[in-house]
Amino acid sequence: MEVKDAIYGRRSVRKYKPQPLDQQDILDILEAGIMAPSAVNYQPWYFVAVRSPETLKEIKDIMQQAAATLDPILKERFPRHPQVVKDTKRFVGLLGDAPLCVMAFINKPDYKKADSTLIQSVSAAIENMLLMAFDKGIGSCWLTAPLETGMDQPLKERFAPEKGDMVAMLTFGYPDQEPAMPRRKTGRYEII
Ligand SMILES: Cc1cc2nc3c(=O)[nH]c(=O)nc-3n(C[C@H](O)[C@H](O)[C@H](O)COP(=O)(O)O)c2cc1C
Repeated sequence: MEVKDAIYGRRSVRKYKPQPLDQQDILDILEAGIMAPSAVNYQPWYFVAVRSPETLKEIKDIMQQAAATLDPILKERFPRHPQVVKDTKRFVGLLGDAPLCVMAFINKPDYKKADSTLIQSVSAAIENMLLMAFDKGIGSCWLTAPLETGMDQPLKERFAPEKGDMVAMLTFGYPDQEPAMPRRKTGRYEII
């Protein structure tokens, strides 16, 4: 696949088929992540990839609380779109039934670099993973809902207590929907 096709074609997928992902595909996705550029080549990421149904259930139990916390925020933001509120809560709480969930953490709390450069580095790795997945026909979604609802703490304590802050949660799986591309805003760059 051309890089341009991956960049333009990738969409956030919030509903997945139950079909599990091949081990090699999971490895390819994680390896794409660690190929990302990073500030001072720190490679400051740590990924916990969960595909065990029992452990996915544990994560979803925590994310149900995230969905409940989001309820008033979503209702205020989308007062005329109750379906958006319902769909978003459902996705956050059940992760779209994704067969793979990857949690991205800062690897080391003791790096001297500013937080921003560490988060930027992990974010570059995340985008690589989403694009690699798309190339394989695997859908994905990047979520910061755990952070916005305070659920990053119980997730970190359970899955990566020795690492730094959680940066994001990612879902992966074969898409069970074909989302349209949300409109891109214009006027967001200039060439001088
Ligand atoms: C940093 C970041 C955080 C996001 N958090 C969430 C989230 O918590 N829940 C969600 O459903 N989508 C989340 N998204 C996905 C965005 O909603 C999505 O990328 C955006 O609407 C554009 O759609 P597209 O990915 O299909 O191009 C997040 C995306 C990014 C980059």
